[in-house]
Amino acid sequence: MRLHLSSWPEVETYLKGSRGIVVPVGSTEQHGPSGLIGTDVICPEVIALKAAEEAGFLVAPSFNVGIAPHHMGFPGTISLRPETMIAAMGDWVQSLATHGFERIYFFNGHGGNIGTIKAALAGFAGDPVLSAASGNRGPVQVKCANWWDFAPVMDFCRATYGAGHGSHATPSEIAVTQFAYPEAIKAVAGIAPKIAANGRYTDAADFRAKFPDGRMGSDPTLAAPEDGERLIGLSAAGLVADYDQFVRS
Ligand code: NI
Repeated sequence: MRLHLSSWPEVETYLKGSRGIVVPVGSTEQHGPSGLIGTDVICPEVIALKAAEEAGFLVAPSFNVGIAPHHMGFPGTISLRPETMIAAMGDWVQSLATHGFERIYFFNGHGGNIGTIKAALAGFAGDPVLSAASGNRGPVQVKCANWWDFAPVMDFCRATYGAGHGSHATPSEIAVTQFAYPEAIKAVAGIAPKIAANGRYTDAADFRAKFPDGRMGSDPTLAAPEDGERLIGLSAAGLVADYDQFVRS
């Protein structure tokens, strides 16, 4: 069930049977020469929607711009400041809590968001309004997980991609987008070296100088849509189980 495709009476009815919601959260940033700019939000969104088919939970609109200042050397990237993201997440949580949601599960697709989301969650945990019951709900709990957190997902990545998985514009995330949007698959001819360099960087200019095509340690030519379908299934199964535990807590 998608919030965007529901009417308010449907949401009101949903709240009589469940107080939980999943919010996909990602980033709008370059993903190498062949990866989609929306990769980091497409992945958690399609996995959440797959999991919702089985678990029946409500999926919020995706929080689709995150912390990506290091990718600003590449056209198309949009980045929030951490304080902007924390404030916006707070407004989402307060709005949902007003309607009676008590378990808000952010499902993340971008490693660069993790520190900021943790800071936001620490703020929610210490918020006296969210922590107390109100007229239409009990205390609000908020959690976050990444789509690759579930052990079978990383096991699959290691077994399938080995040293070519890398850490940015990885074949696994690109495979998920290929399965979700086959019409948007890009040609990958001429990518060199086969496995990109990895390492540290400082700012956006330094990132572009060290990783000129945007990849970090990855070989995205290994991506295939059928692997994306498998990854969606593995991660969705993990989300169904983890969400179930969260809403029962
Ligand atoms: Ni990514």
